[in-house]
Amino acid sequence: MAAAAAMLCAACSTPMEKYRIGVSQCSEDSWREKQNEELKMSQYADPRIEVEICSADDDDARQSAQIEQFVSDKVDLLIVSPNSAEGVDAAIGKAREGGIPVVLFDRKTKSDNYTAFMGTDNHQVGEMMGHLIGNKMGGRGTVVEIKGLKGSTSGAERHRGFMDAMSGYPEIKVVESGDMEDWTEASGEKAMREILANHEGEIDCVFGHNDRLAMGARKAAMSAGRTEIRYYGVDALPSEGGGMEMVKEGVMEATCIYPTRGLQLMKLATDILDGKEFSRENILTSTIVNRDNVDILLSQNMEQMRVSDDLKVVKDKLDTYFSQVNIQRRIIVACVVALVIIITLGVLAYRFYVAKVMVNEELAKDVVAPADAPQAESPFLERFRKILQENLHDPDFNVERIGEEMGMSRVQLYRKIKALTDMTPVELLRKARVTRGRQLLDTTDRTITEIAYDTGFSAPSYFAKCFKDEYGVSPGELRGGKR
Ligand code: FRU
Repeated sequence: MAAAAAMLCAACSTPMEKYRIGVSQCSEDSWREKQNEELKMSQYADPRIEVEICSADDDDARQSAQIEQFVSDKVDLLIVSPNSAEGVDAAIGKAREGGIPVVLFDRKTKSDNYTAFMGTDNHQVGEMMGHLIGNKMGGRGTVVEIKGLKGSTSGAERHRGFMDAMSGYPEIKVVESGDMEDWTEASGEKAMREILANHEGEIDCVFGHNDRLAMGARKAAMSAGRTEIRYYGVDALPSEGGGMEMVKEGVMEATCIYPTRGLQLMKLATDILDGKEFSRENILTSTIVNRDNVDILLSQNMEQMRVSDDLKVVKDKLDTYFSQVNIQRRIIVACVVALVIIITLGVLAYRFYVAKVMVNEELAKDVVAPADAPQAESPFLERFRKILQENLHDPDFNVERIGEEMGMSRVQLYRKIKALTDMTPVELLRKARVTRGRQLLDTTDRTITEIAYDTGFSAPSYFAKCFKDEYGVSPGELRGGKR
């Protein structure tokens, strides 16, 4: 039964090493949503992955607290998109001190205290967009730069890259936004309103550090009646209202893909946890999206989404299948356990039966023993029989005397003899006397009266009665009327 229980446990539990991966997102927006979806999708590809995602809503203190919580929860690995370069560095340090590998994504911190990084080269993004805009402007005019969150490495690098490109267009004037609180459309709108209020003269283009900032700036300009401005951004999300749609609709001139790559990011994380070789710096490439390529990029994206949907369907089907397999396995295990229990009980019952038969055989031997003196009888009964045989001629020989000879009380003797033979000691004594009487009748010429006294009966009539009870005939009938 213990073996059956062990089998049951072994079969029902399928221990699988789980990787608890904490994801600390700096913001909550459509770009992060897309990435979070991809990160969750990776659980479909690798069932060991358990992802928990927190969003800090562009707040350093909140992000630090969330990272510290992940550290005290002892996650296996942390993925962090740091809000600012300074603000979350200490919390990341605590994770590293606690032995938790940290993968930075998209943005970095001021230190290089991380296990690996994956993201796009933001300097290159700024520079690429700068050249695109500079060319479109024909090398002259005014461009507004709506910058990303102050203190974020992505914002700082995009700015540097953009200015590096602009240094090649000396006749282009760059009007920079002030310090930005975040990356939202609302902040883009606010920044553009301020610029429009302070800047005199034409504005040819706006470069928003992301599409949302650019669209916010457009809102402000349109409501101020400034319809001549062209817009450029970064991100190129393929979702509804995203950069690709804006380009397709002609609302934006161009944007560039800032890849989310959640699946690839999770692969890097599991490679680290698996102890595989991995690159510390993983730089993703960006592509410009304009009216010439937007259709093809959108249809490619549709294709990818269909593949992901198919993957989800396959995964759901597999889950259902495996849960059914589990049920079947449990049923099989339950049957095996039932079978083992039945066999065990059967074996016990058989052993019990065999033991009982043996006891009964022993008893049966003993029952026959006193009267018929068989070959094999228990030492106790052999002694009992011997004492009877030696003393049965003595009419005063009784149960008390047998007890004395056997060294036990009358009651003890009674219980034991009764258990072994199902007869009482008195009955056995009487039977032994009658049996001896029969022997003497058959083998001697002694009279019935003599035989009665010789076998310890106090009266010949009582001998005759006991004899008849035993053999169905009286001693006289057996002797043919002779006394
Ligand atoms: C998303 C986002 C993107 C931007 C990136 C910069 O939170 O603001 O729009 O390209 O972060 O780190």
